Amino acid sequence: MNILVVGSGGREHALCWAIAKSPKCNRLYCAPGNAGIADVAECVAVSGEDVNGLVTFAKNQAIELVIVGPEAPLVLGLVDALAAAGIKAFGPSAAAAELEGSKAFMKDLFAKYNIPTAAYGRFTNFDDAVAYVRQQGAPIVIKASGLAAGKGVILAQTEAEALEALDQMMIQKSFGDAGDEVVIEEFLDGEEASFFALVDGETALPLISAQDHKAAYDGDKGPNTGGMGAYSPAPVMTPELAQEIMDTIIQPTIDGMAAEGCPYKGVLFAGLMIKDGKPKTLEFNVRFGDPECQVLMVRLSSDLVEALDAAATGRLNEIKLIWREETALVVVMAAEGYPGAYEKGSEIKNLDQANVIDGVTVFHAGTQAENGKILTSGGRVLGVTALGADVAEAQNKAYQAVDSIDWEQGFCRRDIGWRAIARNNWSLD
Ligand code: AMP
Ligand code: GLY
Repeated sequence: MNILVVGSGGREHALCWAIAKSPKCNRLYCAPGNAGIADVAECVAVSGEDVNGLVTFAKNQAIELVIVGPEAPLVLGLVDALAAAGIKAFGPSAAAAELEGSKAFMKDLFAKYNIPTAAYGRFTNFDDAVAYVRQQGAPIVIKASGLAAGKGVILAQTEAEALEALDQMMIQKSFGDAGDEVVIEEFLDGEEASFFALVDGETALPLISAQDHKAAYDGDKGPNTGGMGAYSPAPVMTPELAQEIMDTIIQPTIDGMAAEGCPYKGVLFAGLMIKDGKPKTLEFNVRFGDPECQVLMVRLSSDLVEALDAAATGRLNEIKLIWREETALVVVMAAEGYPGAYEKGSEIKNLDQANVIDGVTVFHAGTQAENGKILTSGGRVLGVTALGADVAEAQNKAYQAVDSIDWEQGFCRRDIGWRAIARNNWSLD
């Protein structure tokens, strides 16, 4: 079948890499793609947020399956527009994408269907929000309800910080419309984990576990980012915990969405906080995590196209996924300054030397090819991914590959995988 992947990040490179291996894939396109994706797919110059342009392209090229990477086109209604044109897509409708597009919608769904999460209030009135913060006290979490590129969450340690965040969001409009409504949440502590399931409207098929590293610097210090590295499996996710998450969080959400008249299809990505072995939902995303997708794809042995096509057509009960036993670990290399201001256009050399290391795949994110050179074009630039017999071996290989890449203006965390390694050392004592 002819397939179009929408997006241009490391996640989309990993998806294209896995799709290109499928015997079911005839022609593979990516809009708009990046320099690495161009090795496995034909990149087309249509923005991921140009819904009409994407539908027109899909019609003209006889695309049979569209796989949408990021949340923005989903929230804009790309899947609905494709459906109206008779084109099959993997991803939720705009109504179902509200799970990520509106934290207020998500929290109300949790409340209605008894899905474990932090206690909360939602406010469009500034004075009411201030009164709620004063009543609850700190620490407390302030979230812009709409999409804010992962930046609309303030973990306020003091009441003053919380009030400042409300002022920024609701009065100064730092996040534009996304802050018209805020969700104020109880602060949860514990260990964070990501949980992914493919969903076809009714059936959920859990994927293997992965854990992200959100903070910019070693030791989980510094500002939050989109993710600086990940590994799979995540030891925190025991089979019992995974079952509990399926029973108390994933399946009730899918049933709830169907009951609300917006059945969910696509990847459901739950961000969880685990404390004393019990999961609570921090958020839902309506897409694969980035960089979690990179470690999932290198561990997947089954045919990705078959699985995503089954999810898009309500046949997930026919699919069984097979995964490699090895551990996968990805180190994100980012432009100096990320997640703040950074420069674009610096040259990356020696990528080939990294890619030839056994078990290593370098996924591109913010890159573009120009006159035979690879130049940077974004904040997160590469996802250096390695498979190893255990997390220590995967980590060694990934950093060996990182060290063979010549890119002066880049940086990465040097401690990706530390939690899993600390846990292994502890269990060996
Ligand atoms: P979100 O976009 O809602 O997942 O929030 C981004 C990050 O903020 C999460 O990955 C957590 O690290 C943190 N966070 C969000 N909500 C809470 C909460 N209620 N308690 C503690 N940390 C939170
Ligand atoms: N890595 C976290 C995310 O994709 O939201």
